[in-house]
Amino acid sequence: MKIALCGYMGCGKSTVGQLITTKKDLEFVETDLEIEKKENLSISEIFSQKGEIYFRKQENLILKNLLDNLGDSVLSLGGGTPCYANNLQMLKETEGLKLVYLKLTAASLTNRLWTETHQRPLISHLSSKELLDEYVRKHLFERQYYYLQSDYIIDANEKSVEELSNEILNLFY
Ligand code: S3P
Repeated sequence: MKIALCGYMGCGKSTVGQLITTKKDLEFVETDLEIEKKENLSISEIFSQKGEIYFRKQENLILKNLLDNLGDSVLSLGGGTPCYANNLQMLKETEGLKLVYLKLTAASLTNRLWTETHQRPLISHLSSKELLDEYVRKHLFERQYYYLQSDYIIDANEKSVEELSNEILNLFY
């Protein structure tokens, strides 16, 4: 069983993924964490010191490596992972892997992200909630093209982490 969670920043991939792995005998793996370990830098530091293109190359390499060696696990992807290079294709071609999109409205995402923009390099420059909302709407619109190619689409609006983890597990068990 290999479950990969995708969706926009702030949709809950990591928290939901971690909870799923406490309920079943699955390993929790996160692309961002693996990149941070390899680079010995935080994601924000990689963006500021080495740039986004460098980050995307590392993300692609790490994903390939993870997928080549993946056991029974929940893989939490970065918000942009399925949208770059051949990442979506690699995910779709990995045997036994199901891609799940945690779908939230732009308004919910903006509400969640507004208090944490400083931790996230792509949105840290946005100085008002209105600007953040505008950014998220446009960006989500571009990215939905990729997210919507997932095997399962979960409406994550107004659901607790507990409910979401159960809903995802019910798809597979
Ligand atoms: C990104 C999302 C982040 C991280 C990086 C880029 C994106 O992951 O990979 O900051 O392009 O949406 P989370 O979705 O876990 O915040």
